[in-house]
Amino acid sequence: MIRFAVVGFGHIGRRHAEEISSHPDSVLSAIVEIDEEAGAVAAGKYSIPVFNTLESLFAQVPDIDVVNVCTPNGLHIPLAIEAIRAGCHVVVEKPMGLYRKDCDELIWLAKEYNRQVFCVLQNRYSPPSQFINRMMTENRLGKIYWVAINCYWNRDERYYIPGSWRGTLDMDGGPLYTQFSHFIDLLYWNFGPLKNIGARFYNNNHPYLERLEDTGSFWFEFERGGAGQFNWSTALYDSNLESSITIIGEKGTIKAGGQYMDKIDFFMVDGMDQPVLEPSLPPNDYGHWKGSAANHAFVIDNIIKALHGERYDMASVEDAAASVGIIEEVYKLRKF
Ligand SMILES: NC(=O)c1ccc[n+]([C@@H]2O[C@H](COP(=O)([O-])OP(=O)(O)OC[C@H]3O[C@@H](n4cnc5c(N)ncnc54)[C@H](O)[C@@H]3O)[C@@H](O)[C@H]2O)c1
Repeated sequence: MIRFAVVGFGHIGRRHAEEISSHPDSVLSAIVEIDEEAGAVAAGKYSIPVFNTLESLFAQVPDIDVVNVCTPNGLHIPLAIEAIRAGCHVVVEKPMGLYRKDCDELIWLAKEYNRQVFCVLQNRYSPPSQFINRMMTENRLGKIYWVAINCYWNRDERYYIPGSWRGTLDMDGGPLYTQFSHFIDLLYWNFGPLKNIGARFYNNNHPYLERLEDTGSFWFEFERGGAGQFNWSTALYDSNLESSITIIGEKGTIKAGGQYMDKIDFFMVDGMDQPVLEPSLPPNDYGHWKGSAANHAFVIDNIIKALHGERYDMASVEDAAASVGIIEEVYKLRKF
C-alpha cells in the first residue's frame, strides 16, 4: 500500500483524496489544510489526522510515501520542496509552479534525494488528446503549417471571491496558469518548443484582478517548423464557450473542440477515415463552472504503478516544467 497525504483540501484536493482512498493499492493517511472548516470536513469524511503544516505532519506521521500538493499555484514549489526534503515523493497539481527556474530546481532536488516528482496534467488522458498525440507521433499530417488554440471561458465575480488566492499575481499568476495550462501542455507535448513569441493582453470586465488579464492572444513559431496562435478569454458572459485546437498540416486538417476539447469537430486526413473515439469523461465540476477533464483516477493509478516500478503513462515532469516556461515567456510580455 502506498501512503499518501494531501495538502490543500479544496476543490481538487478533495478529488485527490477520493481517488487515493478508492484505489486498492493506496491509503489516504493524512490531510494538511490551513482552513479550519475544510480541515474539519476532511477529518469527518475520512477519520484521519488533519494538520495545518507539513512540518507537523512529518513530526507525527513519519511513514508518508507521497505528498500531493493541491494548494494555490504559488505554493506548489515550496511545499513540494519541503516534502522532498522530508523524503517523500510528490505529486504537484498543475501548473507545476509559476517560474521555470523553480520547477527545474525541484526536479534537481528530487534527483538528489532519489525521490519522484509527478505533475498532474490529466487532460492528456482524454480520448481527443490521446488521438491527436498519436497522429502527431505517427506524423500523419506531414509538415505542420499552423496550429490555432482558442480557449473561451467564463470566470467572473462568482469565481474571483474577494480574499481568495484566485486572481492574485503571486498565488494565481493568471488564466494561462490556472485555467489554460492544460492547453499549453497540449501544444508543447505535440509540437515542441516555441520561438519568436509575441502577445497582447486585455482586462475587459475584471477590474478586481491584480494586474492580470482576462483576455489575450499570443502567437509563435515552432522550433520544428510551422507557426500558430493561442487565444484565450475568461471574460465571456455567464458560461464557457469552447476549448479547441485546429491543426493544419501538409496532409490533413484536424479540429478538436467542444467546451473542454472533448470531441473531434473536423477530420480530413490523407488515407484515413475519421475514427470513432471513446467518449471523454465529464469535466471537473466546480458548481457553476466546469473545468478540465475529470481524469484524476488515471493520475493516481499511474503514480502507484510508477512507484511499484511498473509501466506507467504520465506527462514527464520535464514537460510540465517546459509548459511553465512557455507561460512565463508569454507573461513577460504582459504589462499592466
Ligand atoms: N488538474 C486540474 O484540472 C485542476 C483543477 C482545479 C484546480 N487545479 C489546481 O489545484 C490547485 C488548487 O486549486 P483548487 O481549485 O482546489 O483551490 P481551492 O482554493 O479550492 O483549494 C486550495 C486549498 O488549499 C488550502 N491551502 C492554502 N494554503 C495552504 C497551505 N499552506 N497548507 C495547506 N493547505 C493550504 C486552502 O485552504 C484550500 O482549501 C491550484 O493550483 C489549481 O491550479 C487543477
